[in-house]
Amino acid sequence: MKKIACFVIIPAIFLVISACSEQTGNPPSDGVIEPSPPTETGDRVIYQLVAAETEAEVEPGLTLPFYTYGGTVPGQEIRVKQGQQLEVQLSNRLKEPITIHWHGYPVPNDMDGVPGLTQNAVQPGETFTYSFKAKVAGTYWYHSHQNSNEQVDKGLYGALIVEAEDDPYQVDREYVLILDEMNRDGSAGSAGGMMGRMMGGGASSYDIFTVNGKAGESIPDYPVKTGEKLRLRFINAGYTTHYMHLGSVPYKVIAVDGQIAKQPVTADNELLPVAPGERYDVLIEVPDAGFFIRDMLDDDAADGLRIPVVNLDSDRIFPERGYSGIFKISESQIGSGDWEKVAAPSYDKEYHMALSHGMSMGGVVYQINGRVFPDTEPLDVRKGDRVKVTLESRDPMFDHPMHLHGHFFQVLSKNGRPLKGDPVMKDTLLIRPGETYEVAFIADNPGDWMFHCHDLNHASDGMVTTVDYEGHEIADGIDRSHLKE
Ligand code: C2O
Ligand code: CU
Repeated sequence: MKKIACFVIIPAIFLVISACSEQTGNPPSDGVIEPSPPTETGDRVIYQLVAAETEAEVEPGLTLPFYTYGGTVPGQEIRVKQGQQLEVQLSNRLKEPITIHWHGYPVPNDMDGVPGLTQNAVQPGETFTYSFKAKVAGTYWYHSHQNSNEQVDKGLYGALIVEAEDDPYQVDREYVLILDEMNRDGSAGSAGGMMGRMMGGGASSYDIFTVNGKAGESIPDYPVKTGEKLRLRFINAGYTTHYMHLGSVPYKVIAVDGQIAKQPVTADNELLPVAPGERYDVLIEVPDAGFFIRDMLDDDAADGLRIPVVNLDSDRIFPERGYSGIFKISESQIGSGDWEKVAAPSYDKEYHMALSHGMSMGGVVYQINGRVFPDTEPLDVRKGDRVKVTLESRDPMFDHPMHLHGHFFQVLSKNGRPLKGDPVMKDTLLIRPGETYEVAFIADNPGDWMFHCHDLNHASDGMVTTVDYEGHEIADGIDRSHLKE
């Protein structure tokens, strides 16, 4: 998808630069990094990913410094077929240590990219190879897990797409749309975040909302043709829930957090809320018209998040109406993923996680059961356990999109009521103020796994715990002192 957009907007000078670097496949030493295409041998797909600094235009007249995987923001798209062995050779040309975490993907524990828990961070000048079999299909993403609130803000993220062997949704065209927020002054992380939020009245403490690294007039046209089946893969790499309006064009929700829907529903002019860390795949039968996808969040920055879907066959614009409601996964009945495996009359372990915020000497902290990481209590499990977790918001103010590494969980209930229809499987679940959800997972992937809020500023200020398997030790040589979200 980026290719189509890129050919339209890349000036000729840029093509000259990329032609030079293509000779060796190695990036030139002047700091210009270009994504290099993957190589395939047998069922192995190898990506060489160089992490380096760059500058990029975010909107007309605004160029900001970024950290990148492969020279672009978002980072190079990583795309494999289900069943292939993915190998990503990461070289770090940044001045600080980094990792790659495969968000939502059930990788073996030592490939999970959490410094101090599953590996040591990759130091400047070092390389590290991530390798795992792409067993499950769907829309995922990757990002650094070292000082992640800052490094993800700076651009260290990209899409991971695993194409299904037998995808029930064959399409003519697809676009990956990665949503994010940035600061106009180029700053990253939580500095002033909460105060900014409380005083500014906006929904986000960031002041530009982006799609694929661009805002406002810098967002390219996304071409389509009448009658095409169009798949949009939404990924939220930011820390704010975005409420996407698809120009009143009917869309079907066909996957959630990578998990294919068994009974896809058509959302009739509803907003699609995409919480931090979540993914939604939607299917559109392109009407005889173009349309705009925009963020309806009540925040000034949302005005700049407006994606022109341009119909090459038609100058009409689809008649847009005010939205009729909000798509709610808890009421959608779409039945996604292998939930039958998880459903059980009873559970081997039950945990309760109360989410809250409070003040400490250093400022605001975000707590699980009143504690701040690393003093939070881990969830101890044994391989094969069925584990039920109650996620209860005791926070009157902030959303907490909770994300579990290495596993999918079934959403059992919301506010004491079982989900309607067939359950959904997720890896990231938004808990709004005052809400309580019950989720369940099977402990089928031994290791030490993080379970944390994906407002990464909240994670960095405490809202993190781990799922620890009995008998699994952190590998020798891993420096635990670096265990910091
Ligand atoms: Cu996408 Cu631990 O995170
Ligand atoms: Cu949070």
